[in-house]
Amino acid sequence: MTTSASPSDSPLVRAARGETVSHTPVWFMRQAGRSLPEYREVRRGTDMLETCRTPDLVTEITLQPVRRHRVDAAIFFSDIVVPLQAAGVDIDIEPGVGPVLDEPFASREDLDRIPELTADMIPDIAESVRRIVLELGPTPLIGFAGAPFTLASYLIEGGPSRNHELTKSLMHGDPELWNDLCARLTQISAAFLKVQVEAGASALQLFDSWAGFLSKADYRRYVLPHTQATLAALADAGVPRIHFGVGTGELLPDMAAAGTEVIGVDYRVNLAEAIERVGGDQPVQGNLDPALLFAPWEVVEREVRRILDEGRAAPGHIFNLGHGVLPDTDPVVLTRVVELVHEVSAR
Ligand code: CP3
Repeated sequence: MTTSASPSDSPLVRAARGETVSHTPVWFMRQAGRSLPEYREVRRGTDMLETCRTPDLVTEITLQPVRRHRVDAAIFFSDIVVPLQAAGVDIDIEPGVGPVLDEPFASREDLDRIPELTADMIPDIAESVRRIVLELGPTPLIGFAGAPFTLASYLIEGGPSRNHELTKSLMHGDPELWNDLCARLTQISAAFLKVQVEAGASALQLFDSWAGFLSKADYRRYVLPHTQATLAALADAGVPRIHFGVGTGELLPDMAAAGTEVIGVDYRVNLAEAIERVGGDQPVQGNLDPALLFAPWEVVEREVRRILDEGRAAPGHIFNLGHGVLPDTDPVVLTRVVELVHEVSAR
């Protein structure tokens, strides 16, 4: 459905800049992944992080959902912990669990185990991006990274966490060490994003997936400054920035003001309400509940139409889910959602 000549003039990039579009652009977080049989086929027998460092595989997997669903953007196939591992952090991704560390971060000495990331450590990432961009033609590629808080949580908890208690304990108990850790993670995320943009990515998304676990006061004091620094490092990169977290209804105004063109909205807040909360002058991304893709089609259709309707109140709207595609989602439904978004929003 993308008919523009260049990614920088595509519906996705135009919507992110608040410019007029031929239709509302749509892509899905986790569109490349286990919902696709062709993904499961390619991944068979190869470890997740090894896959992320192999340009042939990264290129193929990134393109799969674009071919199948005709989405308006590709999201680079990688993971938020790829730059950590590339810098030398001993971290792995366990299938069905997520990122895990044998030796979690706990003390100042542990900072030595988190070296800075330089472009020469990830030549494969630049190569994958260049190959994907060449294949995509006019369709934009979205680069991404994890925000310092979400990365710090994995490093400190040693894996996915229900309550983030060790992270909050370190944040409050040793703010100086917390800030030094987050400064290091800011450097790593910014370097990872820059490599992707310099190799041809047309937009970027900063994932602070677990920010919704924080109070507003903690977010402002311990997290926002580091997120701002990460986004500021990309301010002159010439591509729109999208900032997203889960369960962040209370944090939306702060997250929207962190130095981002687009604010990502999860499904817990109606889009109209979210647009109001951030002041109505910023493009938004979101926010169909990924669980509703399992409901009867009439429900999906009604929700898609409602969200498109509500999105018209913002200067730009990028249709997406309120969080990632669930692994058991029927990919046929995702394709139908793309078609419906394009049809309903065509102008
Ligand atoms: O289509 C896409 O969105 C592309 C790629 C992508 C992956 N991870 C691939 C992946 C992106 C953007 C991410 C980011 C990521 N990784 C986030 C932020 C987004 C979010 O979901 O909030 C987070 C928190 C992680 C950490 C992580 N890595 C988790 C929670 C998991 C899932 C664990 C599981 O198996 O359920 C991973 C592994 C991972 N990253 C998979 C994929 C496709 C699953 C690996 C597999 O297929 O076996």
